Amino acid sequence: MTEIIATNYSVYINKGIAKDINRFFRNNKNRYSKVFILVDENSLKYCYPQLVNAIDVFKDAEIIEIESGEDSKNIEVCHHIWTTLSEYGADRKSLFVNLGGGVIGDMGGFIASVFKRGISFINIPTTLLSQVDASVGGKVGIDLDHLKNEIGLFNTPDAVFIDSTFLNSLDKRQLFSGFAEIIKHALIADAAYWKKVQDFDISDLGDIDALIKTSVSIKNSIVQQDPKEQGLRKILNFGHTIGHAIETFSLENDEKKPMLHGEAIAVGMICEAYLSAEICKLSKSELYEITQFILGKYKIVKLEKMDHHRLIELMKHDKKNDKGDIHFALLSSIGTCEINKTAKADQIIDALNYYIQESKIFK
Ligand SMILES: NC(=O)c1ccc[n+]([C@@H]2O[C@H](COP(=O)([O-])OP(=O)(O)OC[C@H]3O[C@@H](n4cnc5c(N)ncnc54)[C@H](O)[C@@H]3O)[C@@H](O)[C@H]2O)c1
Ligand SMILES: [Zn+2]
Repeated sequence: MTEIIATNYSVYINKGIAKDINRFFRNNKNRYSKVFILVDENSLKYCYPQLVNAIDVFKDAEIIEIESGEDSKNIEVCHHIWTTLSEYGADRKSLFVNLGGGVIGDMGGFIASVFKRGISFINIPTTLLSQVDASVGGKVGIDLDHLKNEIGLFNTPDAVFIDSTFLNSLDKRQLFSGFAEIIKHALIADAAYWKKVQDFDISDLGDIDALIKTSVSIKNSIVQQDPKEQGLRKILNFGHTIGHAIETFSLENDEKKPMLHGEAIAVGMICEAYLSAEICKLSKSELYEITQFILGKYKIVKLEKMDHHRLIELMKHDKKNDKGDIHFALLSSIGTCEINKTAKADQIIDALNYYIQESKIFK
């Protein structure tokens, strides 16, 4: 078992995590009254059965099930769950257990954080994305119509339990989506880790625990230095300024197949690596290395030149911007990232065209 100490809580990483959860409950006897477990149909089917017979406290817990997917991450679903909690007599000492991917973690954390002015919650993330990214950082929240994570707050769970065996039932697209965040962690913070990531075959999982531990440690160290994203934490946005715009664009265009978060971030990282070379002196050879690696791992996304302006519009609306400038976190070399860089519209268009051109050559 590996324990990573985050702000006020620990992240436990182990195979067969039930024993660590049992120990946690033994060490926290009498701390909680009732236990509620939030699941979606997939975490209920694939993950809950692995835990319920092994964890006594879970045998008496109430299960609250929601429909899977980002569409559930809204205030109506929260309202329904708060009503359910009230009906079941949840009190200030109740514990909310978030068993599922990032949607369950973000929304369950939000539900618990404001119910009766805040009850305790623990997270058991079951997708690669939620294990390596959402497991630390204290962001909880929901979407407001199409605006992702528009409503929320910073609040920490009492503990996080990560078990990579849950990933066995996850489909490949979801695995690659989470892998994009692992690539990002290496690029922004750790050149030696980048070598390991390049040699790793995510499709057969292999020793994924080693990657999960390194990624959680990197993100944890960044958020501990800057919990509220005033400075350093912005490096976690590498690939995300352009990536988010591409993700939102794919969601608002019904004729385009909706992209998963990590798939859009993979494209965003190539474009922002190009900007890094233009603006931050990333070497051409490292730009090439990043581009070739990501193109080799992810399906080519068709970007149309006529859509570039809409993408730039979307970047301007990003809540992380101020005074109308579009902000980027860019690499000066692999493993080193700089924040508060701005790029002109022309440079962003060049970056999008760079992706189009390189992906054509790659084919
Ligand atoms: N708080 C943060 O710091 C943070 C960081 C990154 C992402 N997020 C949020 O996380 C969400 C995306 O997370 P996600 O990619 O985990 O999405 P998700 O929760 O929608 O899960 C993806 C799919 O996998 C299914 N699933 C979950 N675990 C499974 C398992 N073990 N086996 C089979 N299927 C399983 C889910 O039912 C869902 O269909 C977004 O809402 C995003 O905003 C938050
Ligand atoms: Zn991300």
